[in-house]
Amino acid sequence: MTTIHASFPSQRLRRMRKSAALRNLVRENTLTTDDLIWPVFLRDGENVVEPVASMPGVNRLSVDKVVEAAQEAYDLGIPVICLFPYTNASLKTEDCAEAWNPDNLSNRATRAIKAAVPGIAVMTDVALDPYNINGHDGFVEDGEIVNDRTVEALVKMALSQADAGCDIIGPSDMMDGRIGAIRAALEDAGHQNVTLMSYSAKYASAFYGPFRDAVGASGALKGDKKTYQMDPANSDEALRLVARDLNEGADMVMVKPGMPYLDICRRVKDEFGVPTFAYQVSGEYAMIQAAAQNGWIDGEKAMIESLMAFKRAGCDGILTYFAPEVAKLLNGQ
Ligand code: PBG
Repeated sequence: MTTIHASFPSQRLRRMRKSAALRNLVRENTLTTDDLIWPVFLRDGENVVEPVASMPGVNRLSVDKVVEAAQEAYDLGIPVICLFPYTNASLKTEDCAEAWNPDNLSNRATRAIKAAVPGIAVMTDVALDPYNINGHDGFVEDGEIVNDRTVEALVKMALSQADAGCDIIGPSDMMDGRIGAIRAALEDAGHQNVTLMSYSAKYASAFYGPFRDAVGASGALKGDKKTYQMDPANSDEALRLVARDLNEGADMVMVKPGMPYLDICRRVKDEFGVPTFAYQVSGEYAMIQAAAQNGWIDGEKAMIESLMAFKRAGCDGILTYFAPEVAKLLNGQ
């Protein structure tokens, strides 16, 4: 890019900021409802709307209620709803078999949403942590989170989600080789059109705390996830992971968490030019909500500003718990 430097006062950059009309005219990025993926938490039962204490405004929903939420999201123009099941302790086991049960909570919700609101895309999560007795995303053997046996289980899990009718599969587990294995299995099973959004650059982050409460994994988790999730100090490694996942058949890639990793979003978009997403995670959401509730920041403005930052950083879309709230605002409701 050639930058022309006119000197002051020929150039006064404030001229183009002097009114809303001029600011609107020269705005470089826009946020629309098309940019939103709404993560929701599922729970057993009927007519259940159960608040998540650490995420004000977020609820766990039973299948009937998530169908209503999907309809609401669709009416607001939100293109994707992403499902995360809260799993009862009784269903958490060493072998994680509930993860690929065709009738598990996530699969039941996918079927119900696709039947009632076919126009919204359903995204599902592939990782063993909601079903694992020790809270890890993979099987644990002698204290080690084992890779290859976990990938076999993740493939079964992904196939059951595709069979249930999901549109986007989001492997969030960070095992090596899972994208290639899932892609091959989907092709073999006739699920050629199921897309993969890989959590390619997922960091071992403190910002996932409230999510682990929401899905009931905090109590179960022993130790940390540093042997599979990325070191927050690394950046080049994110590009290697994205390249690897694209080679293995990912259609879209994700950076997670969001706001502390905007530099990674920008590098990924510049390097590969593929559909790039960021996850504004539970801790980011909780921080904004908590400060707003205390009257320390203007929550609505902070929400919009935080989401616009992802667009500026090159993202095509954002997974955000603010999705319905921001959609209403963008629609002038
Ligand atoms: C687990 C998973 C996590 C999130 C999405 N999938 C947590 C973790 O890795 O421990 C976090 C999302 C959030 O914090 O909003 N596979």
